Amino acid sequence: MPRVTFMPDNVTIDVEQGENLLRAAMMADVRITASCGGDGTCGKCRVIIDEGSVEAAPTHRLSDAQVAEGHVLSCTTHVTDDILVTVPPESRPGATPTRVRSGRVANPVLSADKQAARLPDRHTAVAVSKRHVKVAQPDNTNNMSDLTRVVQALRREHSLEHVSVTLDATRQLPAVIREGNWSVTAVVSEPPGGAPLVTGFQPGDTTERQYAIAVDVGTTTVEIAIIDLVAHETVAQAAEYNAQVDRGEDVITRIIASTRPGGVDELQSLVVKTISKLVNQELAKTGVSIDDVIMYVSAGNTVMTHLLLGISPEHIRMDPYVPAASFFPWTQAAEIGLPANPATRLVTVPSPASWLGGDIVAGVVAAGIPWSDKLTLFVDVGTNGEIVLGGQGFLVACSCSAGPAFEGGGIGSGMRASDGAVEQVRIDPDTYEPTILTIGGVKPLGICGSGLMDTVSELFLSGAIDRSGKFTERTDSTRIRQTERGAEYILVPAEDSATGADIVLSETDIDNLMRAKAAVYAGISLLIESLDLTVDAIDEVIVAGGFGHYLDLERATVLGMFPEFPPDHFEFLGNSSLLGASLAVTSSKMLEEMSKVAEAMTYLELSVNASFMEMYTSSLFLPHTDLALFPRTEALLSERLSAKAVT
Ligand code: FES
Repeated sequence: MPRVTFMPDNVTIDVEQGENLLRAAMMADVRITASCGGDGTCGKCRVIIDEGSVEAAPTHRLSDAQVAEGHVLSCTTHVTDDILVTVPPESRPGATPTRVRSGRVANPVLSADKQAARLPDRHTAVAVSKRHVKVAQPDNTNNMSDLTRVVQALRREHSLEHVSVTLDATRQLPAVIREGNWSVTAVVSEPPGGAPLVTGFQPGDTTERQYAIAVDVGTTTVEIAIIDLVAHETVAQAAEYNAQVDRGEDVITRIIASTRPGGVDELQSLVVKTISKLVNQELAKTGVSIDDVIMYVSAGNTVMTHLLLGISPEHIRMDPYVPAASFFPWTQAAEIGLPANPATRLVTVPSPASWLGGDIVAGVVAAGIPWSDKLTLFVDVGTNGEIVLGGQGFLVACSCSAGPAFEGGGIGSGMRASDGAVEQVRIDPDTYEPTILTIGGVKPLGICGSGLMDTVSELFLSGAIDRSGKFTERTDSTRIRQTERGAEYILVPAEDSATGADIVLSETDIDNLMRAKAAVYAGISLLIESLDLTVDAIDEVIVAGGFGHYLDLERATVLGMFPEFPPDHFEFLGNSSLLGASLAVTSSKMLEEMSKVAEAMTYLELSVNASFMEMYTSSLFLPHTDLALFPRTEALLSERLSAKAVT
């Protein structure tokens, strides 16, 4: 059996002759970015064979010099010998998602008070709670069963009618009620509009200790919050990359991975592993006992929700794009392997459509849109751009495929927003010399989404690229060079980069960003047009998600990602999916509202919408085919270019 040692992890694993190297890394728990899910097309899984030989398929993703130095794509390489492999930093997803950056100043997220002010009065009834009762000890004159005794007390003391009890809880009761000396706490689940269900019993009165866990199941990142339901406060919050990223970076590659034999089970166990790691780590830090965690609420896009629950998402990507379910049954959290006691319920925020998930429903409720008189545009940008227009009693939504460019994917030198990513760029309009800032203030490894937007907008404003995203001046600056694949801009030369290779931006990369921003702009335009409105009618724009947190609005508008809304129309909500899930654990009213929103939302399917395609095509320019739609950008552009002409 060949032996593979991964460095710098210093992890060794024995594998079958001919084993795929990316799979060997997964088995060894060594993280390698695999954006295309092992298809050999993204080039992100590059590793270096330091010792031994392998069978590597030829690829245009590596230069001759790299191949000569032992670089291979791990997904198209097979192990035939004992080997020593180095996984370079740029081929790793990153240790933890970066939430605090040193360079760009984050947009101020709505304060908790301001955010709460957007919501109606929330009654504090929660959907899962503990109820304590003390019952009389049985004797020969009072020989009702243990269960009848407790159910009657729950009705009498807590007004709980038509209570059912799970078999698990019934099994627990005889021992628990005697251990508590006829004082017992019931864990009661009350779905909005449904009958109460007792899912567990605890001896004595444990109502002072009630916790719930909100989970945002993101395609890239999973974030959890542990909430004290008695004190009404968040006691811990943590994030981690979704371990599914090893099976592809976007939802389409995950769906494809799920169709392989055992794929759904494997992807489910990976996301459960990520959540479990976060939960166990934060429970240990806070000293909260798993016995006192009574509820999980998860919010995620439709594919992530299906995979979390072990439901095949296969049909989501096939015409007519139907999910297996939009509303999901409440279940035992332990049933899918989450850290939980048998009473803990798992509640999932409904996903109204295949490409519009519970994360958006949770965000829309957290933003208070269902109760607002304002006409509000809600935008959550990631690999998909999900857009909702609503308020004043209606909600219309669409989802456009932006591709991975906003997250640094699909870009030759692209990477996620983690240490070493170039995130802020200014370019001298005369010399094209850049000034850059990296996350963590370390040597640059690549470009993340915000760095990409900065670079392209700077190249545009300096006249280095034209409105179609093509380089206009190719010989005057050593920063711009011609290659066999077209022109490219050298953002960081090899000698200054942490990879030892140039960090560049090619016309193909610019094209990818333009497609992404065009999809978002066209989605926004379509929603506005579908209601016979104009841009002026929009009262506010709420930008959600981690990307929005660091979005440079001026740059985004220069590129034509947003119509030219007045800058003071924008609000940033941060991780609105987690915020919504946290609201749902603390208020059954909010949970109920999420079901109403999911039912009431009108979803526009863009793939069959001819107007969308027209708008998208018109948006494939900087900032748009019709410059008159962008008067501020037009003025800025002529100011910059005339200043350049004068100097
Ligand atoms: S090229 Fe190997 S994972 Fe994409």
